[in-house]
Order: sequence, then C-alpha cells, then structure tokens
Amino acid sequence: MNAPVLAVSNLAKHYRRGGQPFPAVDDVSFSIGPAETLALAGPSGSGKSTIARLVLRLIEPDVGRVEFEGADFLALSGAALRARRARFQMVFQDPLSAFNPRATVARVLDDPLRIHGLASRTERPRRIAALLERVGLEAGLAVRAIHEISGGQRQRVAIARAIATRPSLIVLDEAVSALDVSVRGQILKLLLDLQRQERIAYLFISHDLGVIRAVAHRVVILDAGRIAESGEARAVIANPQSAIGKALVAATPRLNRTRP
Ligand SMILES: Nc1ncnc2c1ncn2[C@@H]1O[C@H](COP(=O)(O)OP(=O)(O)O)[C@@H](O)[C@H]1O
Ligand SMILES: [Mg+2]
Repeated sequence: MNAPVLAVSNLAKHYRRGGQPFPAVDDVSFSIGPAETLALAGPSGSGKSTIARLVLRLIEPDVGRVEFEGADFLALSGAALRARRARFQMVFQDPLSAFNPRATVARVLDDPLRIHGLASRTERPRRIAALLERVGLEAGLAVRAIHEISGGQRQRVAIARAIATRPSLIVLDEAVSALDVSVRGQILKLLLDLQRQERIAYLFISHDLGVIRAVAHRVVILDAGRIAESGEARAVIANPQSAIGKALVAATPRLNRTRP
C-alpha cells in the first residue's frame, strides 16, 4: 500500500455509564490508503461514531495516535491544525442539522472557499456552480434554502461542500442511512465516481453490510468498542469469522442476492 492517508493506532476512549467507566473505543488500530474506502461496521453503540469524532479531533482520545498524511494529528494546533483540517472533510447522516436550514445552497458552498482562501470573491460563484455540477445538481439550486431542497439534494450539497477543499479523506458517518433506496444508490455511485476521479479516501461508517459491500474495499467490524475482525470487505461479508460478523450478516437478508 502507498503511505497511508490516515493511520490510527491503539485508540481508546472511555465514557461513564451509571457512574462506571466503560470503553466506547478500546485499542482500535487501522489505516486507510489513498483512494481507498475503509468501512467501519458494527451494531448501534459499538463505537463507530466515537471513532469518527476521535479521527476528526472533535473529541480527544484517552490514549492512542492519529496520523494524518504522515503528521501526528493530535499534536497539531493553531494555524497548522486549521491548514491540515482542510485536507479532510466529513459528511453526516443528517445535513439538515449540520447546516443552517435557512442558509442558501450558495452560502453553504461559499463558506469553505472563503474560509480556506481557495477562491476570490469574484471567482467564487463560478466555483460554486462547478461544485454543484460536480455532484449532479443544477446551478439554479444555488439560490434555494437548505430546508427547501430534498434529502438527496441536501446530501449532494454536503458532498459538494466536502470536496470544495480538495480533501484527501472524507469521513462519512451513516451518510446514506436516512435516504430511500433509489436515492441511496445514486449517492453511492456519486461517491464512487468522485473517489475514482479525485483519489479521495473514505472512512465509511455504516451499520448496513449491503451498502458496505457495494462501496468498501476493506471493512473493520466493531463489537463493543473493539475490533472483532477486519479484512477485504467482500471476503469478510461472504465468510465472517467473528460472532458479531456472523450476526450482522444474518441480519442483512438482501446480502444473499447477487447485488445489494
Ligand atoms: N458523549 C458521550 N457520553 C457518554 N457515552 C457516550 C457518549 N458518546 C457515545 N457514548 C456511548 O459510547 C458507546 C458508543 O457510541 P457510538 O460511538 O455513538 O456508537 P455507534 O456510532 O456505533 O452507534 C455507546 O454505548 C454510547 O452510548
Ligand atoms: Mg453512530
């Protein structure tokens, strides 16, 4: 593998439940190469979103290391941290809660271009139109408010915003889980196209092995904060070794069809 974009080692995070500390994430290590999709799978509460927050440094780990593009990400601060943050982005399940619902689409896409100084004021409308086209939306959508557009359109806007800074990694936490099946398929295809064209790595979090089989190269299956098993996605899903892997496969009946 090429030098990894993201390398996480021995990550741990404890929370308290009923006064007792418990590990939400327990000794988790993995890495993601350029243009690779690594999926995090596991039942609800297994620690997937906590890992996403740790990787994005929205929360700090108790122990562990996060290396992003070869740099010790947890040691960065100030301008160095801000510059590095432009290189990775995130897309969550519900863009309505991630954005101001009354903001226009243009405003949502203008922010990263302005904040990271990627285009001058006069260039930005053109860049916004190009971003919209890139994710399969009409330029006319720019004037609409976030709350006025459909869930699928909103998720395309979230993806357009994520790629505006030309990131090397996007963390997607249940990014297609709230979409109905046909829209979900279109968004997954868009993600695959963008990955091929821009060589973006994805940390793709999902509880749905059908979706993971369709997009991920490798998968890490979590059980109560620990890695139960990991490997090539299709091989693991075809022949899970861990109890939790077997249970997740058994709970996804459409895996038995040839296409998810
Ligand atoms: N801020 C928090 N405070 C206390 N417990 C938390 C917090 N965030 C998550 N947890 C707990 O940590 C565990 C893992 O949660 P999470 O990472 O959200 O799982 P997943 O995304 O796989 O559903 C769960 O038991 C959850 O209740
Ligand atoms: Mg979650």
